[in-house]
Amino acid sequence: MFKSNEKNIIWQEYNITRLKREKNNNHKSISIWFTGLSGSGKSTISNAVENFLFNLNIKTYLLDGDNIRSGLCSDLKFNISDRKENIRRIGEVIKLMLDAGILVLVSIIAPCKNHREMIYRSLGKKNCIEVFIDTPINICEKRDPKGLYKKARSGKISNFTGLQSIYEIPDKPDLYLDGTLVIEKNVKKVIQILYDRNIISLI
Ligand code: ADX
Repeated sequence: MFKSNEKNIIWQEYNITRLKREKNNNHKSISIWFTGLSGSGKSTISNAVENFLFNLNIKTYLLDGDNIRSGLCSDLKFNISDRKENIRRIGEVIKLMLDAGILVLVSIIAPCKNHREMIYRSLGKKNCIEVFIDTPINICEKRDPKGLYKKARSGKISNFTGLQSIYEIPDKPDLYLDGTLVIEKNVKKVIQILYDRNIISLI
């Protein structure tokens, strides 16, 4: 149950609970937050993980930074306070999806440690798996899948993460992935942690 700051807002309980949905689905809901630099492999790995889970009949949804910023967060820029608001809104979406029984994959940079921690506190740590995709910035820049590093270097983008704006490396992620490895190896590690934590099972 969550509380509103407004005293006339009263939380309404409904019959179909998260637990009932999880039982129906035959798996638990959880959020897997893939954090890392632009070009580190977040979208590629989360996409491959989602494909794998979808084929197992797991109910998933993937929240992607650019997609969320094309709608729900299209009013936000890349200064630190807008990034915080971006993360806060995404956290609220995740909350609803967890309640809906969904395994949520989150492919969002979330460069600030305290913003990430704010979300883990708000969702409850047991609802979150933090996955750090560690890819050196020179490799991200060489990949430059969207041409954004090039634009940032030439001054066409300001506040670009890793160049003019900080990225704080997670101290103790639940899962560390070397973003230079082949995708399959990293996908396997993500799936393994879901089995180890009994989010999904081998039945
Ligand atoms: S976050 O920092 O606020 O968590 P988010 O994941 O939502 O970032 O969005 C990052 C995506 O926006 C990147 O994948 C990239 O394609 C695009 N982008 C555009 N401008 C920037 C910028 N200044 N810094 C980082 N990413 C940017």
